[in-house]
Amino acid sequence: MGNNGWFETVAEAQRRAQKRLPRSVYKALLAGSERGQTYRDNIDAFAELGFAPHVAGGPAERALGTQVMGVDLDLPVIISPTGVQAVHPEGEVAVARAAAARGTAIGLSSFGSRTLEDVVAANDRTFFQIYWSGGRDVIEQRLQRAREAGAKGVIATLDWTFSFGRDWGSPAIPEALTPKAMLSFAPEVALKPRWLLDFARTGQLPDLTTPNMAAKGEPGPTFFGAYGEWMTTPPPSWEDIAWMREAWGGPFMIKGICRVDDARRAVDAGASAISVSTHGGNNLDGIPGAIRMLPGIAEAVGDEIEVVLDSGIRRGGDVVKALALGAQAVMIGRAYLWGLAANGQAGVENVLDILSGGISSAMLGLGKASVADLAPEDILVPEGFARVLGD
Ligand SMILES: Cc1cc2nc3c(=O)[nH]c(=O)nc-3n(C[C@H](O)[C@H](O)[C@H](O)COP(=O)(O)O)c2cc1C
Repeated sequence: MGNNGWFETVAEAQRRAQKRLPRSVYKALLAGSERGQTYRDNIDAFAELGFAPHVAGGPAERALGTQVMGVDLDLPVIISPTGVQAVHPEGEVAVARAAAARGTAIGLSSFGSRTLEDVVAANDRTFFQIYWSGGRDVIEQRLQRAREAGAKGVIATLDWTFSFGRDWGSPAIPEALTPKAMLSFAPEVALKPRWLLDFARTGQLPDLTTPNMAAKGEPGPTFFGAYGEWMTTPPPSWEDIAWMREAWGGPFMIKGICRVDDARRAVDAGASAISVSTHGGNNLDGIPGAIRMLPGIAEAVGDEIEVVLDSGIRRGGDVVKALALGAQAVMIGRAYLWGLAANGQAGVENVLDILSGGISSAMLGLGKASVADLAPEDILVPEGFARVLGD
């Protein structure tokens, strides 16, 4: 890999990730569901939007900073929570360090492979992501642990339907990486010696447990154990969500909002922020691309709650489009996972640099000195682009 592993676009990071990762790990990150309609529309919808540029009178400097859930960010891009087991030995700690180096926050998944305490030590701008799993007592214990660890906010991810199956195939994920399980992966791993070497250097095999689903210091359940608990927990009511917000008592984001009526309920439940999201197209296939749902939701609740968008962000221009259409910031998933797989912490920094460079360049074209000045008239929105659900 020439140039110290530097890459110029997220697409290139993805190509390198595909070369480096065992097939099963790559497929687990690619994810998506069913026929991939939502997965594709998340990305393709951004290409339907255009810019309305100026050619002179632009600002010499552009301010990219913003604030989400009371946390100052140097750029309007937050690390979205993902379970990144087996991508890289340092996992979420490497991602947290990269985010800290670029002055932004990380959302740590409940299904993450590293402890919340280690991640907060690497980046004090950490939000803890939680599911409605295990019922009120267990959730209260997890919130307590997050509070003690110093998490700055909670992200409650509500959009999950336990759908399964994708037309391009799912990887086999072992319950634990026992020697026997490793042997079954040996043929594909043998083709990816660099990935194995990274783990071999640390003296550890990829860990498929979820340490943040247990009490601090207790061994975490396996991914399947944790998933089973979640799957068998009855879904929450809006009263449960208001209870969770109250039990946390601090900045609280609801992730996965697609409808205007749900956005209003999130406001009523006392949330500080929402993320308009399709879970990156991994959840219910057939939901429109997230950016199509943003304008209607931002118009309805943008004055009452912070609106964030995730799903489909691959370049700085995408971030600018989302901000102009009403988002305070965006969150990224696969973009940083490809960077992490391609080049560890430096790869995640590389992705954040690609995005901030792209934001700055689009802002120069649009003649904007600050991300706060971006507005819908900066964007060419074709007729019929937006989807307003549940108004
Ligand atoms: C491999 C993978 C694992 C994910 N795991 C979680 C998770 O544990 N919790 C969560 O809230 N979202 C999870 N997500 C969704 C992301 O937080 C985010 O919504 C999504 O990746 C955004 O779309 P993008 O990948 O197009 O940026 C996951 C996404 C991927 C790709």
